[in-house]
Amino acid sequence: MSKSSISTNAKKVNSFLTSRLHGRPTELYKAASHIMVHGGKRLRPYLVIKSCEILGGTVKQALPAAASIEMIHNFTLVHDDIMDNDDMRHGVPTVHTRFGIPIAILAGDVLFSKAFETISSDSHIPEKQSRALVSSLAKACVNVCEGQLLDIQMAQNQKMPSESQYIKMVEKKTATLFETSCTLGALSANSNRKNIANLSSFGKNLGIAFQIVDDLIGVLGDSKITKKPVGNDLREGKKSLPILIAIKSAKSTKREIILNAFGNSEATKNDIKKAVKVMQSLGIEKTIRKKAIYYSARAQSSLSSYVGPSKKELISLLNFVVKRSL
Ligand code: IPE
Ligand code: IPE
Ligand code: MG
Ligand code: MG
Repeated sequence: MSKSSISTNAKKVNSFLTSRLHGRPTELYKAASHIMVHGGKRLRPYLVIKSCEILGGTVKQALPAAASIEMIHNFTLVHDDIMDNDDMRHGVPTVHTRFGIPIAILAGDVLFSKAFETISSDSHIPEKQSRALVSSLAKACVNVCEGQLLDIQMAQNQKMPSESQYIKMVEKKTATLFETSCTLGALSANSNRKNIANLSSFGKNLGIAFQIVDDLIGVLGDSKITKKPVGNDLREGKKSLPILIAIKSAKSTKREIILNAFGNSEATKNDIKKAVKVMQSLGIEKTIRKKAIYYSARAQSSLSSYVGPSKKELISLLNFVVKRSL
């Protein structure tokens, strides 16, 4: 991923976002923008813009959808941090930690509502295209809720899910927004069905690869780089793929060490550290990166009929996603 390409686009998205996220009571808008102003890679808006460009559209055409999906993404993050009991994101206290749960719920709701206002209020977009954008975004939100519930149920359930159950959950909770980013980009370019399907499939597989790696760095990553907690998935009993594979492959003492931390709200920092060390010794990183590469190859094949600079940028984003430690 070209850093300059992503940051140039991020700047445009950011100014669009700030122009729409202010009002009174100021505390509400401060809470709604809290996570955004302290960081974020802006990957989803980047996908909207590049998917629009690869199909002959312009950044200007893509901007309302790009800003909307980032608002939805941030809405999911604010509520997700409440659900996951996480106290840090982007290196700062999460919204509910900083402002309290009631304001965090409202901040999420404002982001959600503003996203729909933003995507539907561009008077230059023809009615039919506008309806398709809104309906695609609404469908994505429903999918995220379903996926988030599956994530919670899996954590609560004693039974270990299969890898394909994990993938199904990830498709909904995470890949949906990546897929929809590409759909929205293609729709913003007013493209045809075939192109919309190709780009959506690219986004979906990229999204699966993204979450697989996210789950890896959620356990074996460096919180100084990710700026979010490392090891909490273990404590919360999240059935993420690296954890599932580790539990499946660990024997005797190693297995006991992992299980002692897994889903144990009383696990100490040291218990988590020991479990992480064991997971490292099992070679989980290599296995997981390979799985991510499998999905990234699928994503890449969806772009086989395109050429040009936007394709190159989408492929380099894909490479970033599988290699990343951020
Ligand atoms: C975090 O997504 C939520 C997941 C789907 C794992 P990002 O890593 O894209 O969030 P930013 O970059 O902090 O906004
Ligand atoms: C990612 O959730 C999906 C959503 C936020 C909808 P996670 O719980 O796996 O992501 P992080 O690790 O908190 O960013
Ligand atoms: Mg979560
Ligand atoms: Mg979370």
